Amino acid sequence: MPPWNPITGHLLCLAPLLSRFPKDIIQNYLLMELSKDFSKTDNLLYLDLWPFSMPMIVVTSPDLSIQACQQHDLTKPAALKYFLEPFSGGEDLFTMNGLEWKRSRAMFAPGFNANYLLGQMGHILEETSVFVEILREHARKGDMFSLDRLTCDFTMDIIGAVCLNSHLNSQRQFNPLASAMRSQIAWHLRADEMNLFKRWNPAQPLIMWKNSRTMNNYIGKELDKRFIERQGGEKDTSSRSIIDLVLDNYMTENSSLDMAHGLDQSFKKWAQVQIRLMIFAGHDSTASTICYSYYLLSKHPNALAQIRAEHNEVFGTHLKTVSAQLLENPQLINKLSYTNAVLKETLRLFPRQTLYVVENQE
Ligand code: HEM
Repeated sequence: MPPWNPITGHLLCLAPLLSRFPKDIIQNYLLMELSKDFSKTDNLLYLDLWPFSMPMIVVTSPDLSIQACQQHDLTKPAALKYFLEPFSGGEDLFTMNGLEWKRSRAMFAPGFNANYLLGQMGHILEETSVFVEILREHARKGDMFSLDRLTCDFTMDIIGAVCLNSHLNSQRQFNPLASAMRSQIAWHLRADEMNLFKRWNPAQPLIMWKNSRTMNNYIGKELDKRFIERQGGEKDTSSRSIIDLVLDNYMTENSSLDMAHGLDQSFKKWAQVQIRLMIFAGHDSTASTICYSYYLLSKHPNALAQIRAEHNEVFGTHLKTVSAQLLENPQLINKLSYTNAVLKETLRLFPRQTLYVVENQE
């Protein structure tokens, strides 16, 4: 660990580090830089930043991460709930522990399956063609725009299509669900927010409550719609969304329930929370990965040339045919091994963190 002080803990060691970076630097990056300075041999760093956060162990090695995330059933910390609840609206896959997590995770497992995702290629291509169109429009105009904003809308639209089977269209126009989630993120207070105008702004809880209601109403209507369609014997399994998988499971497990009165309210609430989590957890992570990979490719023209060469080899040089090829044979995407390596390298250089509580350390 860095030098520790009984009163200030490790807070003082952050000062020289912070001075090297922009004020709004993402916390993950700071922790990684700090661990480079202090945990050269074992990739474990103990950090006591009380009262700004709970004391934590920062893990930066893949082996130790696997121990923390997979081999031991570690409890997730309460701080995670404070952070996630405004987005998901309740106990979600991220914050659940033990058996409750296992049960919920099992319901979503088919949705994380690689073959299932390849089956969603139609949805993904549709949203991607809008994204590419917008990029082209910007390129023609030569204007300045926020790539982060655009990629967030893009990934939000993909998740809307894959999870809800619903076209959010947020890349082109206003969508209540996407807009409420983005507003929720903008209004969410960090635990260490020092600006008192932000911390005590009376509008903040009202806006967040309204956003939450908007998201629940939107997802609730989609759930009811899909439930009615399924009761009507809808057989089309080609475009099954994650909502459908969850409803399948619910209807099989509760075949004895009287479904005539619609969805059970507690199930509906549970599903709203999990879908809100998917939208939150899935959009920004994927969007920032796209941004960082474009950034890295712009800095490494050789890698960009190799990606282009790989795409030409797999798809040929006629751009207009790529969508049709992928639709017909989604497995083609698995041939892009260099592109995959670039994405993995991007995530290695700009990683995301996971939080667990290590109990009974003695
Ligand atoms: C580049 C993209 C992504 C990155 C880097 C990423 C990263 C992560 C990480 C580090 C975790 C914690 C894993 C653990 O605790 O063991 C996680 C969990 C999760 N992610 Fe992602 N994620 C990405 C995309 C997505 C997408 C697209 C979705 C959904 C649409 C999603 C939904 C979730 C959910 C629901 C969990 C909780 C799973 C559980 O605890 O059972 N993520 N993600």
